[in-house]
Amino acid sequence: MTIWQPSLAGCDGPKYLQIAEAIGEDAAAGRLPSGTRLPPQRELAYLLGVSLQTVSRAYAEAMERGFLKGEVGRGTYVRDGSALTAELPSASLVRPDAGPIDFSLNLPAPSPAAEALARSLAELSGADDLASLLDYQVPGELAPGTARSTKAAADILGRIGLAARAEDIVLTSGAQHGLLVALMACTRPGDVLLTEPLTYAPITAMAQRLGLKVVPLASDQEMLCPNALEAVCGRVAAKALYCLPTLHTPTTATLDAERRAAVAAVARKHDLTLIEDDVFGFLPPKRPLPLACFAPERTLYVTSVSKSLAPGLRIGFLHAPAALTHAAQTAVGLSSWMPPPLMAEIAARWIEDGTAERLNTFQREEAAARQALARARLPTELLQADPHGFHVWLALPARWNPEVFRMAAEARGVKLLAGAAFAVDPAKRPNAVRLCLSHESSRTRVEQGLTIIAELLQEESDRSALVL
Ligand SMILES: Cc1ncc(COP(=O)(O)O)c(C=O)c1O
Repeated sequence: MTIWQPSLAGCDGPKYLQIAEAIGEDAAAGRLPSGTRLPPQRELAYLLGVSLQTVSRAYAEAMERGFLKGEVGRGTYVRDGSALTAELPSASLVRPDAGPIDFSLNLPAPSPAAEALARSLAELSGADDLASLLDYQVPGELAPGTARSTKAAADILGRIGLAARAEDIVLTSGAQHGLLVALMACTRPGDVLLTEPLTYAPITAMAQRLGLKVVPLASDQEMLCPNALEAVCGRVAAKALYCLPTLHTPTTATLDAERRAAVAAVARKHDLTLIEDDVFGFLPPKRPLPLACFAPERTLYVTSVSKSLAPGLRIGFLHAPAALTHAAQTAVGLSSWMPPPLMAEIAARWIEDGTAERLNTFQREEAAARQALARARLPTELLQADPHGFHVWLALPARWNPEVFRMAAEARGVKLLAGAAFAVDPAKRPNAVRLCLSHESSRTRVEQGLTIIAELLQEESDRSALVL
């Protein structure tokens, strides 16, 4: 079998960049089909007559650019180009007490939700009219489980200042579905979707699948910047902006009311629809009003119970302006017909009987305790965090390449995501990593993971640790 080798004839610049670029070009041209295992680094170094370090750097660079995926000890493979910038992380929803410490996923902490479910299922087994929870429901015509949950959702939104009528709330199968529905409701193929420069990666993949052009804004202090929005709206006819104004992922930033008002004003001036993702909005005890309050006529507000109650319920709420409610309902019908009424019924009961508030409080307290551990263990000058958030954003010393750091952490048993996973423009990758503290089974394991990360930060970046 012939071993793949990059063709470097006539290339300029550092050798490692030439190799990384050749990997990207060969992957795009099909000469390196997706799933191909690249030669071991030592072997390629020998064949090309370069040092092992050069090949290690080249592989790390190609990984950061999204051409490759790899795990220490298992090899390096060409990534599927059709996945574009985002793949769903391979989520492990069990939270084991042993094995790797997982800081890669922004999931709620293990909570007493299962006990609440057992109670609700017992109560439901004696309820009348269970048959209606098993029927098809026509989008917009609310059957029992659905009607009850949109009323309950209106109650929740009212508590964070968004006065909502139940009829303006569209039930979705979680926020991920809510985002897809929002994009389907307000855009057509060829439209431009604006995003923050660093953002929740699945939105870019969804937008690309819907034929949208994604344009990232510039930002200041890693925040959504009204001036940058104004500048880009002057240049391109954008249709919508997707943003995460509260506890942004990955940067943890929360926009203050003044910026929210300024963003709303620019959106109004340029007739831009706003898609506000507020999945972490329940965490801060005091928070600015949702962006939807500043521009109610043009904001599709998306949230869910995934982070506050349980992701397996798959229930989300989309608050739409009257002009877009029908389009959003149609998008729900096209993409899933309807969220499962049984789950909607359970979520509604939890909101009505106070279970939801108790589970919210549980998540808030757990998040605050885990954030305190991060402040105690990690260098504060590198740490960007909100005392109420699920995750932290950790800048790396210049000697560390974030992808190399991610792999070195994984080799020591801690999983995390490098900043490139959130960059809409692959050329603007931040030198930082995101650590999600909420997912792990216990605070003890969070502390162990943080200690490993703190130790790694002190060390030299050892690329030879990446020989696969
Ligand atoms: C920022 C953000 N938006 C949306 C979602 C999707 O949430 P859901 O589980 O409700 O689909 C997630 C889940 O990780 C998220 O982190």
